[in-house]
Amino acid sequence: MTALVLALAACKGDEKKDASATAQAEQSPWPEVKWPFPEDPALEKRISDLMATMTVEEKVGQLVQGDISSIKPEDLRKYRLGSVLAGGNSDPDGQYNATPAQWLALADAFYEASMDTSGGGKAIPVVFGIDAVHGQSNIVGATLFPHNIGLGATRNPELLRRIGEITALETRATGMEWAFAPTVAVPQDDRWGRSYEGYSESPDVVASFAGAMVEGLQGKVGTKEFLDGRHVISSVKHFLGDGGTANGEDQGDTQLSEAELVRIHAASYPPAIAAGAQSVMASFNSVNGVKMHGNKSLLTDALKGRMNFGGFVVGDWNGHGQVEGCTITDCPATINAGLDMAMAPDSWKGFYETTLAAVKAGKISQERLDDAVRRILRVKYRLGLFEAGKPSQRAVGGKFELLGAPEHRAVARQAVRESLVLLKNQDRVLPLQPNQRILVAGDGADDVGKQAGGWTLSWQGTGNKRADFPNADSIFEGIAQQAKAAGGEAVLSVDGSFTQKPDVAIVVFGEDPYAEFQGDIPNLLFRPGNDEHLKLMQRLKAAGIPVVSVFLSGRPLWMNREINASDAFVAAWLPGSEGGGIADVLLRKPDGSVQHDFKGKLSFSWPRDAAQVANNVGQKDYNPQFAFGFGLTYSDDGNLAALPEESGVKAGQTEAGTFYGRGSLADGIVLRLSNAAGQKLDVTTVPAKLPDGSLEVTAVDHEAQEDARRFTWSGKPAATVSLVSSTPRSLMREANGDVMLVLTVRPDKTPAGDVSIGVTCGEGCKPASLPIRAALSKLPAGQWTRFGVLLKCFGTAGADLRKLDSVMTLESAGALQLSISRIELGALNEAQQTLDCAH
Ligand code: BGC
Ligand code: BGC
Repeated sequence: MTALVLALAACKGDEKKDASATAQAEQSPWPEVKWPFPEDPALEKRISDLMATMTVEEKVGQLVQGDISSIKPEDLRKYRLGSVLAGGNSDPDGQYNATPAQWLALADAFYEASMDTSGGGKAIPVVFGIDAVHGQSNIVGATLFPHNIGLGATRNPELLRRIGEITALETRATGMEWAFAPTVAVPQDDRWGRSYEGYSESPDVVASFAGAMVEGLQGKVGTKEFLDGRHVISSVKHFLGDGGTANGEDQGDTQLSEAELVRIHAASYPPAIAAGAQSVMASFNSVNGVKMHGNKSLLTDALKGRMNFGGFVVGDWNGHGQVEGCTITDCPATINAGLDMAMAPDSWKGFYETTLAAVKAGKISQERLDDAVRRILRVKYRLGLFEAGKPSQRAVGGKFELLGAPEHRAVARQAVRESLVLLKNQDRVLPLQPNQRILVAGDGADDVGKQAGGWTLSWQGTGNKRADFPNADSIFEGIAQQAKAAGGEAVLSVDGSFTQKPDVAIVVFGEDPYAEFQGDIPNLLFRPGNDEHLKLMQRLKAAGIPVVSVFLSGRPLWMNREINASDAFVAAWLPGSEGGGIADVLLRKPDGSVQHDFKGKLSFSWPRDAAQVANNVGQKDYNPQFAFGFGLTYSDDGNLAALPEESGVKAGQTEAGTFYGRGSLADGIVLRLSNAAGQKLDVTTVPAKLPDGSLEVTAVDHEAQEDARRFTWSGKPAATVSLVSSTPRSLMREANGDVMLVLTVRPDKTPAGDVSIGVTCGEGCKPASLPIRAALSKLPAGQWTRFGVLLKCFGTAGADLRKLDSVMTLESAGALQLSISRIELGALNEAQQTLDCAH
C-alpha cells in the first residue's frame, strides 16, 4: 500500500520525488487510479494478528475456491478453503430449479463448516460467489434484468445503480455475498458468444456504467451501506481484453498495442476501482499470446501497480490450467503472476496440494502468499463476515419475498422499456391501439426462458419450463393483459396461423439461449438454412396484416430481409423476466395516447451484411446499416426504403463445432484411414479403401442422400479412422466447459475385437485413447444414436488438448462395421448414450 501511495504522490507532480519515476509514469498508457480505502492501521493489525496464527495450510486454503458441485461442506472442515462458488450449472442437490431455501441452507452449511474449529484450525468465514449477472439469475423466482447489451441501450447509469442494488439484495436473500459481475467487456466482434454480456462496443458507454454498477452492488464507499448485509462484493470481469479476441473467438488471443488495450479494454477498470470494487476476475483469453492467468505485467504491474487495485484477483473457471506449463491441478505460475484466488471448481483439492507444495519448496514466495491472503482477508473484514453470523441470520437472509418483489420487477420493467431500440416504423404503424385484435406469433412470443437468454437457471439458459419463472411475464402475456384491459384481444399463435383475421401481428423471434463459447458463430447470419420466421412475416403481410417484429438477440445480426418484411422492427435484446415492458412501449393507453416512447439507442452498431462482423463506432471505413446511437422515437419519421438482401456470406460455410456433417468435412479437417501395417489414405472421394482392405469407407444415407459414411474394418490388421486437423487445434475451453465429442452412429455389425476412441496431439505428445468396445456393443444395432465422450476424458487420458492434430481417432482391432453421419462438439441429453471417463 505505502509504495502505491508514494507512486501516486510522485505522479501528482511532487518535485521531491524521484524524477525517473515521474518520467516513467508519464509514458505509461495506464491511468492512475485512486483506491478509495486509505490505509487502515487497525484493520491491518487485525489481519496481521490473525495471519500470525495461521498455518501455511490455512493460508494456502484461502487462495482456493471450489465449486459446490465438487465440494461438500464436510470438505471445508478439513480443507480450509477461502471460498466456494456456484458455477452456471451447479445447484444444490444438482437441481437446476432448487428452491431458494435449499440455496440458503447450502450457504449456511458452508459457512458453518468454515467456522467450525472442532477439528482444530482457525474460524475464517468462507465467501460464496455466484453469477448474479442479470439479477440473481440462477435462482427460481428472482427478478431477471435485461442482459447487459440491453442495458447498454438505455444509456442510464442511475438505472444500473438501482439494478445493482436489487441484484445484491436478492443475492443476499439466498445466502451469497459475492456476485461475479459486472462484465465490463467491450465486445469488438459480434460473432463472440459473450457479446450480450457487454454493455457496448464503445469503451465510453461501458465506462459510464462500471462505477454505478459496482456501487449498486457494493454500496457507496464511505457510507454506512457500503458492504452491509444488503450488499455484495462485485467482481469486475474479465481482466483483460475479453472482448477483443481475434475473430471474436471466446477465450482467444487479443492482439493489440498496449495503448489500444488500455483505451478500449481497460476503460472501465479505473471507474470500477475508484468505486471500490473488491475483486477483479482474470480472463480466460490471452493478450498478445500470453494467457491472462499467467500475465504478471498486466495482473500485477498494471492492475495492482499502476491502477492501485487493492482488492483481490480471482481466477476464472480453471483458467489457470491454460497457462503454459500448467494443469488445472498445478499452477504456481498463476499465483506468481498475481492471481490471489484460483477458481478451481473440480480441481480444488489438487490445486491446493500442489500450491502448498510450491510454497514449501519456495516456488511461491512467502511474501506473495501473504500478500494474497491479506488481500482476501481485507475483503472479508470489510464485508463484516467475521461478525455476520450465518447467511440465514443476516440482514435479509431468508427474506425470499425479495425475490421478484413487485418494486424490483418494476425496475426491471423500466429497464426493458428503456432498452428497446426501434429501427423501422413504416407509416407510423406503432404505437398500436390496444383495443384491436392482435395476433402474437413467433417462437419467442411466449417463452420466458428464451427472452431471458444464457446464465438463467443454468449455464446455457436452456432446459427450463414456464413454471420455473413464477415472477415473470412472457411478451405475449404482457400484450394480452393490456389488450384485454382496453377491450381488445391478443391471440397467441406461434406459427402465425389464424381463423379470424387479426388487425395487426406482432412477431417475436430470435436467438435461442447460449453462453460463452457455445454462442460463437462464424458470421452474422440468423439461423442459416431456416427461414421459417421470415416466411411467417411474409405470409402475414401477404394477407394484408401489418407486421411488427420484435427481435430477441444477444447481438446485432444481419436482419435486412426481416426488416423489409416488417412494417416496424424492434431490437429487444434479451429482456429477462419482464416481457410486459414490451407492451408498455408498443401499445397505446386505452385512451389512445402514447404510454411510453422509445428511448433505447444502439450501443452496438447494426451490420449492413452478415459478413460485417467487426463493425465498431469510430473505426476507419465505418459503414453500418444502423449506426451506433441510432434509435427512432415516436416523433421520428420511421419510414425505410427496402434494404439490399445480399447477405455477403458465401454458401456452404461450415457450422461451428461440426467436424463432419451433411456429407462434408469442416474446413481444415481431413478424413484419414490408416493401419498397423503403415498404410495411409486421405479420403477425398468415396468409396475408398486401404490397399490391403483392412478399412473401407462407403457412402450411406441417414437424413439425406449419402450424408453418412459406413466404415468396414476387416480386423486384419488393426486400422484407424482419423479426423486430422491441418493446423493444431485447441479444445481446451470446450473440455473445461464439459463439452462432448458427439458421434451420430449406427452400429451395423458388433465389434469382434477391441475398439478405442481418442485424439492425437502431434509428435512427442501422448495420444489419448479410451476403450469403447463394451459401450459400442450396447448401442441399438442398426439404429442411429448419438454417442458422446466428454472431451476432458481425453485430457485425463494424457493428451494435451491445446494442440490436437487429430480431433478424433477411431481404431478397431477386430472386424467391425459402423456408419457415422455426424461428428461434432456438443452436449447430450439423457436419452442418448455417453461414455464417462472411467468407461
Ligand atoms: C465465466 C465467468 C464466470 C465463471 C463462474 C466462467 O466460465 O467465464 O464469467 O463467472 O465461469 O461461473
Ligand atoms: C459451468 C460454468 C462455467 C463453465 C466454464 C460450466 O460447466 O457451469 O459456470 O462458466 O463451465 O466454461
